[in-house]
Amino acid sequence: MTLHIASMLKGQRRHISFHTPGHKRAGADITELSYSDCLVHPVGVLREAEADIAKQLGAAASFILTDGSTSGVFSMIHALKAAGGTCIAVPVFSHPSVWHACKIMGLRVRPIQQTAAHGIPLQPNEQALHAAFEEADAVLLTSPDYYGNFPPLAAARELADKFRKPLLIDGAHGAHLHFSENYAGRYADLWVDGVHKSLPALTQGAVVSAKGEAWAKLLHAGVLSFRTTSPSYPIMASVEYAVKYPRNLAIEEASEAFKRGHGCLINADWSKILIPFADTSVAERYLEAHGVYPEFNDGNYLMFYLSPCTRKRHLKKLGRLADRLEKGQVPSDAPAGAIPMYTEEQ
Ligand SMILES: Cc1ncc(COP(=O)(O)O)c(C=O)c1O
Repeated sequence: MTLHIASMLKGQRRHISFHTPGHKRAGADITELSYSDCLVHPVGVLREAEADIAKQLGAAASFILTDGSTSGVFSMIHALKAAGGTCIAVPVFSHPSVWHACKIMGLRVRPIQQTAAHGIPLQPNEQALHAAFEEADAVLLTSPDYYGNFPPLAAARELADKFRKPLLIDGAHGAHLHFSENYAGRYADLWVDGVHKSLPALTQGAVVSAKGEAWAKLLHAGVLSFRTTSPSYPIMASVEYAVKYPRNLAIEEASEAFKRGHGCLINADWSKILIPFADTSVAERYLEAHGVYPEFNDGNYLMFYLSPCTRKRHLKKLGRLADRLEKGQVPSDAPAGAIPMYTEEQ
């Protein structure tokens, strides 16, 4: 598959820079020039890259973001507001960007309560989603969440169709799923892929997408409001590369086998491994002393984030080290707080 942005960068002629960025060095970190296209009105390589990404993700339109999923969340909520939405239902453990976007754009939030089990917040159930669709103009879900769990996606889509209201999905942790049944883009009207988190893209690389021409147009207006006007070419090239990166079934299977073999939390996303150590701080220090760094420590679990680039031998090393540490009993009550519930002070 052609990598439009990377090929353009590779084919550049050396030149004297009287343009930004100020480091004045040739290389991949260029700006929007006659041959490199322009993200606001793409007509060249960026248009080709975005068109390929949209095709791959099953979208009417996809927009490359170099400012993280955060700007995608803002763009989706801007689109909802532009479509006349005034109230949006969101789970209480949604990411701060969701709450900030609603606040800034003056949308009323109808919170969807989340219960907890095994020390983690649970996804809202179908009944909670029914009530949410009844009472709000739109529903935004996080899929998957940081703990690798999914909301009832098919039911959410059915409810969206029944109530004729849009379903928005924050897929900051789900970009690696575009080959799978539980990919956000199979269910949502608007969705974000946090490409940099679970696919091989540079930090801040993300994509926001829309189903249908009407949402695509509204989303485009949102993107123009919240995206930087100085997009990083290394990040954009990495987003195109990452979305086109092949599926790695071997690591997906190795991850599921690891979970079964090492007493991990049973979740639904191969890319997120949660180990309940008796003392997570002791375990974290021990692992780090052996050169192994987890994504987070929430007091109940250490969380290990995988991607198609994770090496099997690294997973094996993690297993060997984890087996030397005492596992813990995870309480069934409130989550320990790696993902804080939103408060007004945030
Ligand atoms: C669920 C969720 N949504 C959105 C974001 C924001 O993503 P980014 O850091 O790429 O802006 C995050 C970041 O961790 C997240 O966890």
